[in-house]
Amino acid sequence: MSLIKTKEEIEVLRESGRRLAGILNEVKKAVAPGVSTKDLDELAFNLISEAGDRPAFLDYSPDKDSKPYPATLCVSVNEELVHGLPSSEKRLRDGDIVSIDMGLVHKGLITDSATTAPVGKIDQQSKVLLKATRECLEAGISVARHGNFIGDIGFAIESVAKKYGFSVARGLAGHGVGYKVHEDPLVPNTGKRGQGEELKVGMVLAIEPMLCLGNGDIFLERDGWTIRTKDRQRCAHFEHTVAITETGPIVLTKD
Ligand code: MF3
Ligand code: CO
Repeated sequence: MSLIKTKEEIEVLRESGRRLAGILNEVKKAVAPGVSTKDLDELAFNLISEAGDRPAFLDYSPDKDSKPYPATLCVSVNEELVHGLPSSEKRLRDGDIVSIDMGLVHKGLITDSATTAPVGKIDQQSKVLLKATRECLEAGISVARHGNFIGDIGFAIESVAKKYGFSVARGLAGHGVGYKVHEDPLVPNTGKRGQGEELKVGMVLAIEPMLCLGNGDIFLERDGWTIRTKDRQRCAHFEHTVAITETGPIVLTKD
């Protein structure tokens, strides 16, 4: 059963998303060669705390058996796709691409957003990968409308990925969000039009396409968190939290 949020709850989520977007933007500005992924994590933690809010991922357990996540951000570099564990040993290098994923709790309500940023000067193929993944996110958002279906979102995302000749990462999906980081429904990045749960006014979804240069198979690193591509080819990730309203989708995680 998917949670339906009231207009008032969506107002709070909008503020949560606005705060998140501002901070994610500051973190993005700090991306540069030589900066460690832990530096980015500390910056995000400090900015969230100064604003009187809480990081949503810190101490969160995605599954019943998993240990609590120990950081504010997931920072995933190049072949790392999601849930990259920030580390002071891991420094960004010119030409890298880095996914920064952040969740924020404001007045008890959570928003979730990610962006993939270039570090210095990146190669042409990486540029196209970022552009394609961003376009997938826009395509997914544009069909997140009352009366459409979960499958329409996946279909839209997959269609853009195919147009570019990139693969959609297997086994990972977007999700409902609000009172918990992960709520129903699951929002896959592939699908068929008209299939799955019907989208209703008041649903709040984290839509998060993940595209890969290689075949899209994934692998969990020994740290128990970082998910990378099996073939170690590059991948990208963009995410917004979106509310389905009477007048269409509203991107909550923007300024
Ligand atoms: N944005 C991430 C996702 O949707 C949330 C990560 S929670 C963590 O999967 F605990 F794994 F960090
Ligand atoms: Co998410």
